[in-house]
Amino acid sequence: MGTSADPTWRQWHGHALIVGGGGIGRALLEQLQQQSPHLQLHLATRAPIPGDACRLDLVDDASLEDLKQLAESQWQPLRLVINTAGVLHGPGLQPEKRLAAVERRALEASFAINAFGPLLLAQAVAGALSRDLPCHFSSLSARVGSIGDNQLGGWYAYRGAKAAQNQLLRTLAIEWRRRLPQCCVSLLHPGTTATALSQPFRGSVQADRLFTPARAASQLLQVLAGLTAADSGGFWAWDGQAIPW
Ligand SMILES: NC(=O)c1ccc[n+]([C@@H]2O[C@H](COP(=O)([O-])OP(=O)(O)OC[C@H]3O[C@@H](n4cnc5c(N)ncnc54)[C@H](OP(=O)(O)O)[C@@H]3O)[C@@H](O)[C@H]2O)c1
Repeated sequence: MGTSADPTWRQWHGHALIVGGGGIGRALLEQLQQQSPHLQLHLATRAPIPGDACRLDLVDDASLEDLKQLAESQWQPLRLVINTAGVLHGPGLQPEKRLAAVERRALEASFAINAFGPLLLAQAVAGALSRDLPCHFSSLSARVGSIGDNQLGGWYAYRGAKAAQNQLLRTLAIEWRRRLPQCCVSLLHPGTTATALSQPFRGSVQADRLFTPARAASQLLQVLAGLTAADSGGFWAWDGQAIPW
């Protein structure tokens, strides 16, 4: 798949929101800055960076309420939302190799960000999403969240939370078929990408299967550009292939 700009975004007008200022989130913002001259772009991060960024912590209800007010008052019509916030490891959180390593606190932390976060984000932005024009609500998942594809085991908290996200957003897609019939809800696997999230775990990944954030972002935007409301509720990989649930 090439990395050239897709004309779809060049023609879109309105607002776009990227959530999460990590490797893939910032690369998506940069790609959209090049590809979409008529979209007003917004980045929501935990720590605001200079420019048009707003503070958002997905595990903080007051922060989500602030985003809701901002989106409804200033970002209509919202045409594109991509959630890239997620967590695999951090203080007190390490992918578990075996049952004995599972901890309640880590399960709760992973589910709070990876599963509940995207659904509560959808609740916050729903009122600003375009009713009259096509729009996307997309969230990054991971192939390891596929139950059908799970051959290796391990990573209980991350796998379980991504699988839960998939079910929650599939359910949302069904509801929005009625409420927001032009909206496509999608779950996307970016492929293994060289960011802080994958850094400790990508030693065995072949060089040609490890994407730069720019390449991952370009591929994700190309997949999204090919999806319509008729595809809402699906789970796709970076190359456009459907992933089994
Ligand atoms: N990289 C890969 O190989 C890979 C593979 C499969 C799936 N994914 C998925 O792709 C997504 C993006 O990952 P990435 O590679 O770009 O990782 P990343 O560079 O670590 O970025 C993740 C971002 O999530 C943000 N975040 C964490 N908790 C948050 C919260 N409570 N509220 C708001 N933001 C929060 C982090 O913000 P701070 O900067 O404030 O900590 C960070 O900027 C994740 O969902 C990940 O699971 C990545």
